[in-house]
Amino acid sequence: MKVLVFGNPEESAEYISQEILAAVRHKPNLVLGLATGSTPIAVYVRLIHAHQTQGVDFSGCITFNLDEYLDLPEGHERSYRYFMNQHFFSGVNVRPSNRHFPPSQGKDLARQCLDYENKIQEVGGIDMQVLGIGSNGHIGFNEPTSSLASRTRIKTLAEKTLRDNSRFYRPGEVQPQMASTAGIGTILEAGKILLQAFGLKKADAVHAAVEGPVSAFWPGSALQLHPQVTLCLDADSASKLSLRDYYKRVRENDERRLKE
Ligand code: PGA
Repeated sequence: MKVLVFGNPEESAEYISQEILAAVRHKPNLVLGLATGSTPIAVYVRLIHAHQTQGVDFSGCITFNLDEYLDLPEGHERSYRYFMNQHFFSGVNVRPSNRHFPPSQGKDLARQCLDYENKIQEVGGIDMQVLGIGSNGHIGFNEPTSSLASRTRIKTLAEKTLRDNSRFYRPGEVQPQMASTAGIGTILEAGKILLQAFGLKKADAVHAAVEGPVSAFWPGSALQLHPQVTLCLDADSASKLSLRDYYKRVRENDERRLKE
């Protein structure tokens, strides 16, 4: 794993957005795996800026979101479709027909989950996956004890996830308890994974993901099995890593070699 500790989340967003923009310029029909939550918003802001000021073209890009709540009405302000429209799609030119979300309503969700997996395969797989991590170590909505080989399916959300996300809900508002999510196995098939995590709240999950044993109890640890993962952290989320100083040296050496 490549572990990068940035001075602040904005520097990380700059790094990730530059990676994505370079990939889009290199492959205009890039297949992007996208995440919701507070963490990736600054990346989306930068991608929109690049589209609007430098004309970066997303019209060939195909996107697959990681997860979606079940049974929220179409256009509901807590749905992840709504989130993505607000924070990304409204500012770039990804074609509506190229935006995909795991199923959230209708009959035979298991079949629809399989269709989602098939759609990813049909376009040649996800090239680049933007990822966050929950304070309990979940990636997507793959909660602790999710199979490391899991595929897109329906999950009940963990208590910790419900608590963490309750900040987005008004008192008395019903919070969805279930979601569909790409599986850990699905995520591990992406060509490249870019994960961001910030703040002390994420320090245990980051520690388990980077330095813990691979365990279904900390789903982020499954990323150790992937050959191309970059973890972008701040000092707080990196604070429990015993090899902090080593990661710093790796980065300094990489930067030095790049300049040579
Ligand atoms: P956050 O969520 O970006 O809102 O912290 C991350 C996650 O739960 O994966």
